This record gives sequence, C-alpha cells and structure tokens, in this order.
Amino acid sequence: MHKNKEDPEKKSNDVQDWIFGAEIANRFTDEAEKHIPDYWKVIELTINILKDNVPKDGYIIDVGCASGNTLLYLYKQGFTNLFGIDYSPEMLKVAYKNLSKVDKDFPSRLFQTKTFVENMSFNAIICNWTLHFIKEREKYLKDIFDSLISKGLFILTEKTLQSKIIENKYILFKQDKGLSNEEIERKKQQLEGVLNPLSVTQNLDLLTQTGFSQIEIINARIGFVTFLSIKP
Ligand SMILES: C[S@@+](CC[C@H](N)C(=O)[O-])C[C@H]1O[C@@H](n2cnc3c(N)ncnc32)[C@H](O)[C@@H]1O
Repeated sequence: MHKNKEDPEKKSNDVQDWIFGAEIANRFTDEAEKHIPDYWKVIELTINILKDNVPKDGYIIDVGCASGNTLLYLYKQGFTNLFGIDYSPEMLKVAYKNLSKVDKDFPSRLFQTKTFVENMSFNAIICNWTLHFIKEREKYLKDIFDSLISKGLFILTEKTLQSKIIENKYILFKQDKGLSNEEIERKKQQLEGVLNPLSVTQNLDLLTQTGFSQIEIINARIGFVTFLSIKP
C-alpha cells in the first residue's frame, strides 16, 4: 500500500501524480482496457451513433484522442474529415504512428493543445474519458458547444462520483482484469486531484447550463457514464 502513515487518506510521498507520459502512451490500450469499464463497447457505440447521424464528410473531432483508437475506427468506417486533440506529446506520438499508417496526412489534423481548437466547426465532437482531467471544465465545454453546428452531436464519457458500493464493484472489475491490490491502490492515489469526477446529476446540470438539449445517458457501468447531447 502507498498510504501516508500519519494520514492514511493522503498520498504517500513516493506516489507521483498521474501523467500521460511515454510509459503509459506505449501501452495505452492495455491500460485503458484494464481500468475503463466498457472501453471498446463505448467506442463502438460512439462509432455507430456517428455512422447513423453524421455524413461521411462531416467534421468530427476527438478530444483526448490518446493513441488514436477512436479516430482509426472512424477512418475505417469511411469518415474523411477527422481531427484529434490531446495535450500529451507522448500520446500524440503514438497516435501519429498509428494513424499515419492509414493516411500519411493524418498527423496534420492532430493538435497538441490544452485548450479547444479555435475557428473550426464540427458536426460531432467526442470527448470520452477526458473532460474529468480538464481543470477549466465549464470553459472547455462552452468552447465545444460554440464550435458545434446546429443539431451537432456531443458524446461525452466521464468517470463519475462513485458510492462505496460502486467503488467496490470497480475494484472487483480491476481485479478481474488481473491487477493487484497494490496496483489498484497506487493508481487511485496517483489520480487524486488529477481526475476530478462530478456526480451524474452535476454532469447533467453542466450540459444543460452549457446549452445542450436532448441529453441522454447512452451507457453506464460502475460509475463510468456516457452522455449523448445535441446542440439545439
Ligand atoms: C483516458 S485518455 C482518453 C482515451 C481516449 N479518448 C480513447 O478513446 O482511447 C485521456 C486523454 O486525455 C488527454 N488529456 C488530459 N488533459 C487534457 C487536456 N487538457 N487537453 C487535451 N487532452 C487532455 C490525455 O493526454 C489522454 O490522452
């Protein structure tokens, strides 16, 4: 365990904050599958919704595109105007490698930035498992909203606040994936103050206050919730 001996709720001194550096980037899909419930199911749901509702030449951006799994999937479904944002150069290096295999121009459509892109508009915006890392959440969400066309789609997946009952279920999920109790505890401590979850209600309120309508929950599993929202 990596608890601080004087205050067990505090991070111990040898636990560094979570970062999306080279070590994670190079094994990102494995990490995601072990820590994110329904990782591929949510990506497939995202793709299916976009396939049914966005033209193949529609503009789509994936916020927190990480290693490019979703963008690659969308590309294989025939979408042609795909963009990605991530703030981690190491993550983007892996995304460049994966995506330039299918389209050598892809890297020019991947942006390394902590803030949302300016002067572009999109038919759909995806933000799966990323907004909870962004400090200026309200401002980021407003920028996303402003850059969507009318009737544009926003798919958001967040880790939400978990009750003790659900947190225990989540620990079981990770144990089933082969993680040790020490690995589970260590990552929990690394994410404290880095990943900031809101409750489901707070997420719904935030989406409503930003201006979205027809907000629906389209997937939920042990505290990981996917929202589909539409810009009026
Ligand atoms: C859990 S991963 C997202 C997974 C990805 N959406 C997928 O489908 O595989 C979170 C990503 O968000 C990125 N990130 C964190 N804070 C960010 C910010 N302020 N702006 C852009 N990307 C950010 C991280 O570098 C990381 O790649």
